[in-house]
Amino acid sequence: MGGRPPSSRVMALLVALLPLVALAGVTAKHPDKGSQERSFVIDYDNNQFLKDGRPFRYVSGSIHYFRVLPSEWRDRLRKMRMAGFNALQTYVEWASHEPEYGMYDFSGMRNLTHFLTIAQEEDLVVILRLGPYMDAERDMGGFPYWLLNKNPDMRLRSSDPTYLKYVDIWFRDVLLPIVKPLLYENGGPIIMLQVENEYGSYPDCDFAYTSHLRDLVVAGVGKGPVLFTTDGDGKNYLKCGKIPEVYATVDFGSGTNAIKAFEIMRLFEPRGPLVNSEYYPGWLDHWGVPHNTVKAEVVAKTLDVMLALNASVNMYMFHGGTSFGFTAGSNLGNRFQACPTSYDYDAPLSEAGDPTEKYWVLRNVTGKYLPLPPGEVPPASPKFGYGKVSLAPTGSVFQMADLLQKVTNKWPLTFEELLVPNGIVVYQTVLPFRIADPARLTLGDIHDRGYVFVDTEFAGMVSREQDMYDLAIYARPNQTITIVVESQGRICFGSQINDFKGITTNVTLSDHTLEGWTMTPLPITHTSRLQNALTRLHSWAVAQNIPPLGLLGTNKGGMTFFSGSFQVPGDSSHPRDTFLRLDGWNKGVAWVNNFCLGRYWPEVGPQVTLYVPRGVLHQGTNTLVLLEQEAAPCLTPDTCHATLQETHIINGPTPL
Ligand SMILES: *[C@@H]1O[C@H](CO)[C@@H](O)[C@H](O)[C@H]1NC(C)=O
Ligand SMILES: *[C@@H]1O[C@H](CO)[C@@H](O)[C@H](O)[C@H]1NC(C)=O
Ligand SMILES: *[C@@H]1O[C@H](CO)[C@@H](O)[C@H](O)[C@H]1NC(C)=O
Ligand SMILES: *[C@@H]1O[C@H](CO)[C@@H](O)[C@H](O)[C@H]1NC(C)=O
Ligand SMILES: *[C@@H]1O[C@H](CO)[C@@H](O)[C@H](O)[C@H]1NC(C)=O
Repeated sequence: MGGRPPSSRVMALLVALLPLVALAGVTAKHPDKGSQERSFVIDYDNNQFLKDGRPFRYVSGSIHYFRVLPSEWRDRLRKMRMAGFNALQTYVEWASHEPEYGMYDFSGMRNLTHFLTIAQEEDLVVILRLGPYMDAERDMGGFPYWLLNKNPDMRLRSSDPTYLKYVDIWFRDVLLPIVKPLLYENGGPIIMLQVENEYGSYPDCDFAYTSHLRDLVVAGVGKGPVLFTTDGDGKNYLKCGKIPEVYATVDFGSGTNAIKAFEIMRLFEPRGPLVNSEYYPGWLDHWGVPHNTVKAEVVAKTLDVMLALNASVNMYMFHGGTSFGFTAGSNLGNRFQACPTSYDYDAPLSEAGDPTEKYWVLRNVTGKYLPLPPGEVPPASPKFGYGKVSLAPTGSVFQMADLLQKVTNKWPLTFEELLVPNGIVVYQTVLPFRIADPARLTLGDIHDRGYVFVDTEFAGMVSREQDMYDLAIYARPNQTITIVVESQGRICFGSQINDFKGITTNVTLSDHTLEGWTMTPLPITHTSRLQNALTRLHSWAVAQNIPPLGLLGTNKGGMTFFSGSFQVPGDSSHPRDTFLRLDGWNKGVAWVNNFCLGRYWPEVGPQVTLYVPRGVLHQGTNTLVLLEQEAAPCLTPDTCHATLQETHIINGPTPL
């Protein structure tokens, strides 16, 4: 208000509006308290948090904005609030916001401010995990791939100056200025900021790095917000993960003895609130490995134990969502293991955002400690099976590659050298000499999956997942050796997150190094470029009058783009969520209306169907595009189809 006293009419209007403002949860002031301060601090004396001077404990849930369509954000957040949860936790994904160096994106699904504002409107405070690294089973743990182009020898997550240079720009100039007005003290929802993530699990133990991050954050947003770290519940993790002056918390799942785990935290934080920053209601999946589940009763029991100890708990994940597009990461255990598109996580809300049985069981536990908001829990969204979608080939990977720009080099270049974020690159070389019969083709450390062709003949595969890097081929001079290389997602955890993709070593044929390579990136990670390439491919095929079977990349229908359309009825109950089922198809990528749903691979499971959110559909004609890498049921037109069904299958059969 200005200096002039408001007229009584204006006052009346203000009074009428006040309850509305309060309901929306955006009031910045607490006039009932003597102080107008919004504050959130640690009360070390009483082992608790204080919010506006009053004891506060959170039961929080993780929902990643980058895994849920913006049209569904409010629905998912409200469902979480209705389970009695009073806080949201999310990572910030650097790669989402700076997909190419210096190109920033905070629009649509990347609109962090929008997401956090909705959380505040839904009466949730926010615990923000700034990164720069996160893991989260995302490509490169959330790092932008181009870091590896700037300096291939960059030591990520360390005080390597060539790395810090980009972290500094990202934090100081871009992220922290967005975060600052959203802090609780500034009227926003953010009460806590996490620095790095499970740093104690990274071998470097570089305190100069983590202290630098802390100082960067304080310089950017001030000393107001509570800073914290998260580490596994082991002494050695905390030893390297703890940062001076930053509150150390732990993470563990339902199988852990919570009392013992918090004893470990107490070694590093003798006083202050107990916090489990990642309590797992389920677990992540890998392609080819049975779907992980955790029993609701077991999750409820340990949650009850923690809450009875007055601990603050974040459930990771409350709603996992989907790694749309090419955003899923991989793990490196004994072997390389790629994560599927679904991030269901056996969480309280399913991948499609529906309350599960676990939701109700956990809501009962939360309700013992925190008030459950009045009103009904929003119901599961209605689903629909739109049925059979007939598909037809639109051209092969090789035909498309012929129309695209190429890069030539004496030796093979990695995706990072080519500035290709993800997807597929076609590598080709012409055999200049006579070679043994058969010859051993060795692809060193292929990242991650290579399909080998001699001229147009499929000759076999190499696979990082299966530790298979060479094969016997028969080739004559002047034949073209083509290797179609797929990135299955960069490693997201551990010491080898500098995971270059493509052909990362020289290629030999019976010990002779192959030179003179042509590389053609497929434009599948950029929707508009893909559309453009598919249009050109179609025009070319029409002009050449190619018969349908001539558009197949292999005689099984592999290495081929397919497209088709389906109808969504015009009545107001549509569009609805649906699930794409691909019986008879092997492995590839699917798009609906130019939105990339992600990778499919029903052959190995456990994920059989892909989630198609209603937000990507519209009434009338919708399009489906597939890139099938291996085999399609399309040798006759009447078997060439996919299905949109009402139910999701993420626990399908997997190989032995
Ligand atoms: C983010 O969302 C807000 C609405 O909450 C909007 O005002 C803003 O323009 C959006 N930002 C971008 C980059 O689209
Ligand atoms: C939890 O907090 C309440 C209220 O401050 C207190 O009475 C109780 O002793 C605490 N319980 C534990 C296990 O610390
Ligand atoms: C939740 O608690 C209520 C009341 O005790 C009980 O009737 C209901 O069965 C419980 N629900 C679940 C899913 O445990
Ligand atoms: C390969 O092709 C080139 C050009 O067509 C030809 O000159 C050469 O003799 C061929 N080499 C072999 C070994 O057949
Ligand atoms: C391939 O071999 C050449 C010549 O020996 C060498 O200069 C180059 O570094 C090698 N490339 C890789 C990726 O090993």
